[in-house]
Amino acid sequence: MERPLILGIETSCDETAAAVVAAGARRLSSVVLSQVPVHRLYGGIVPELASREHLRGIVPIVRQALERAEIALEAVDAVAVTRGPGLAGALLVGLTYAKALALAAGKPLIGVHHLAGHIHAVLLDRRERGEGEPPWPAVALVVSGGHTALFLVARRAPAAGGFAYQLLGQTRDDAAGEAGDKVAKLLGLGYPGGPLIDRLAEHGKERAVAFTRPKFKGPNDLDFSFSGLKTAVLRYTQTHPLAAGIAARRQLTANGAKPPLEELRAACDAAALDLIASFQYAVARELSEKTVAAAERYGAASILLAGGVAANRRLRRELAAVAAARGWAVMAPPIALCTDNAAMIAAAAMPQWEAGDFAAWDLAASPQLPLAAREAAPPA
Ligand code: KG4
Ligand code: ZN
Repeated sequence: MERPLILGIETSCDETAAAVVAAGARRLSSVVLSQVPVHRLYGGIVPELASREHLRGIVPIVRQALERAEIALEAVDAVAVTRGPGLAGALLVGLTYAKALALAAGKPLIGVHHLAGHIHAVLLDRRERGEGEPPWPAVALVVSGGHTALFLVARRAPAAGGFAYQLLGQTRDDAAGEAGDKVAKLLGLGYPGGPLIDRLAEHGKERAVAFTRPKFKGPNDLDFSFSGLKTAVLRYTQTHPLAAGIAARRQLTANGAKPPLEELRAACDAAALDLIASFQYAVARELSEKTVAAAERYGAASILLAGGVAANRRLRRELAAVAAARGWAVMAPPIALCTDNAAMIAAAAMPQWEAGDFAAWDLAASPQLPLAAREAAPPA
C-alpha cells in the first residue's frame, strides 16, 4: 500500500469527520457525521451544540473511518487534524482527540489549516482519477459558509512544504454561503439554505431582478461583499407582494421541519423563484468574474474551486463558462469533497508530512488562523 497512511480528523464547524488517505492520493475511507438536524431547529449553527455533538460523535466516527479503511490505528503513519480556523470549542474537540490518539499510538501529529484542506480536496480528487497535478500557479476560490477568499497557490520544493499561498481577495462581510443561508432563512426556506437555493433557482428567471454589484477600488479590488446583496433581497421582499408566500413557507419549515423539496417549491410563486434565481446568479457571477480577473492579473495557469458553496451547480457552470471564454479550465471536486470532510485534511497533511512539519503536543486551536497574507499586487 502507498505510504504514508494519514488519519485525518475535522471538527471545525458542524461536521464531525474522519478519513484515512494513502499518500494524499487515495481515500481508503471518509466518514462524515453532519449535525444539520441538530442546528436546523435553531435556523443556524449553535456553537455550544456543535461542541457537544462533536464530543458525542468523534470516537465512533474515527473508529468507523479506521474500520472502513480496514486498518488499525497502529498502522497509520500520522494523525492530521484541523487546527483552525473554525469554532473554538468545536476545533478543540478534534484537536484534543487527535493528540490523544497520536500520543497513545506513538504517531506524529500534523496540524492542518481548514482552507488548505478545501484546496487539497481538488488535488486529492485529481490524483484519485489519475489526472495528475494542475498546471501551476493556480488561483483558488475557496467559498463556504464561513469563508470566501481567493488565493494564489504556487508549488514549492517538498522540504519547503510543497505549497505557497498568497491571499488575493476575501469577503469584507458575509461569506457567500452565509449570505445564501441568510437569504434562504428570510424567504422562509429553512436551514441550511444553500442547497435549497441551488434546487429552487432552476425554476426561476435569473435575470428577473437586477442587483447592483459591489465595487472596490484600489489594491484590494478583488475583495468580495455579500451583505449588501442580502439587504437588497430583504428590501425587495418588503416592496413586492412576497409576504404571504414567506409566511406560508415559514409554517412549512417551523420547528426545524424539513419538507420535501417539491412541497417547498409548490409554496414558491413565480416571483419568489425569480428572486431566488436572481440572487444565486448575482453570487455566481460575482465569484466567477473576480476569480477569472485574479487568474488574469496573477498569470495563473489553472483555476481551482473549493469549499461547500463549490457544490452549487450554477456557480460551477458560471465559473466554467467565464473561465473557458478566457482560456482557463476550472478544477472542482465532486460534492462530497466540496463540503467539510476529513479526507481533505488528510490530503493537505501530505506535503506537511514530506516537509517534516509535525506539531508539538501543545498545538492550540486557532479560531482565526489565516492561511496566507496579502502581498503587493504584481505590476499591471
Ligand atoms: O465548506 P462547508 O461544508 O462548511 C464551512 O466550512 O463553512 O460549507 C457549508 C456552506 C453552507 O453555507 C451551505 O449552505 C453551503 O456551503 N452549500 C451550498 C450548497 N451546498 C452547500 N451553497 C449553495 N449551493 C449548494 N449546492
Ligand atoms: Zn469548510
